[in-house]
Amino acid sequence: MAQDFTDAATARAWDADPAARNPARTEQLDLLLTIIEQEHRPGTAILDIGMGSGRVEESLFGRLPEVHVVGIDHSEAMLGLAAGRLAPWRGRYQAIRHDLTDLGSLELPSGPYPIVFSVQTLHNLADRHKVGVVARVFDALMPGGLFLLLDRIAVEPPGLFPSYRALWERLGRVHGTALAEGRTYAEHLDVLADQGDRPADLEGHLAWFRGAGFEAACLHLHANRALIVGRKSGG
Ligand SMILES: C[S@@+](CC[C@H](N)C(=O)[O-])C[C@H]1O[C@@H](n2cnc3c(N)ncnc32)[C@H](O)[C@@H]1O
Repeated sequence: MAQDFTDAATARAWDADPAARNPARTEQLDLLLTIIEQEHRPGTAILDIGMGSGRVEESLFGRLPEVHVVGIDHSEAMLGLAAGRLAPWRGRYQAIRHDLTDLGSLELPSGPYPIVFSVQTLHNLADRHKVGVVARVFDALMPGGLFLLLDRIAVEPPGLFPSYRALWERLGRVHGTALAEGRTYAEHLDVLADQGDRPADLEGHLAWFRGAGFEAACLHLHANRALIVGRKSGG
C-alpha cells in the first residue's frame, strides 16, 4: 500500500530511521546544509517544502544559530513529530499545514526568500504538481535566490538498471543495510508503485527548473538520489 505520511504510524516509522532506505541521505543532507550555510543572509527566512518531522531543521538550527524557517507539510502527524523535535527552537520556525497539490490557496509568510529547499518530498507528487511547485518556488524567491532540491529520481534508462543495482548493493555493504529497491527493473517499478512514489528523471527536473527561469545544475548524484540546485537570476 502507498506510503501515507498523514497516518500517525507511518509518520513514526519513517521518522525513526529516515536513512534506513536511503543511506546516501546523510552525506547529501550535509552537502545541502553546506550550501545553505554559505548562502544564508542573516535576518531572512528560509522556506522548506515538505518539512516533515523537522529532521532537516534540527540539523540546520545546529549549524545556523539565528536562522528562521517557514516549513510546509500536509501531514499533521509529521508536523506533530516536528513540534516535539524542535521544541528547543520553538520561536525559530513556522509550520504551515498545507497540501502542495493546492498551491493556489497557499499563503507564504516572511517572503520573498533567499533560499528554498525541499528534501525527499516532491517524488510523492504527480509531475504536473512537481512543475507547479518549481514555478511557485521561483516566484517565492528573491532575485539571486537559490532552490535546493534533494530527492529520489527515476531510474533511467531501464537498460542501466544493473548499474544502479550495483551502486545500491555497494551502499548496502558500506552502511550495513539492505536497500529494498528491487532486483529487476520490473520489481523496482513495483516497489515504487507500492510506496506511491512517482520520481521523475533527472533531465525532466532540470528542464522544469530551466523552464521556470532558473539557472540549474545537478551538483550531486548518487544512483537515483539527486541534489539539484537552481539560481534565480538578479540580486
Ligand atoms: C519522506 S518525508 C521527508 C520530510 C523531510 N523533508 C525530511 O527529509 O526529513 C516526505 C514529506 O512530504 C510530505 N508530503 C508528501 N506529499 C505532500 C503534499 N501533497 N503536500 C504537502 N506535503 C506532502 C509528507 O507529509 C512528508 O512529511
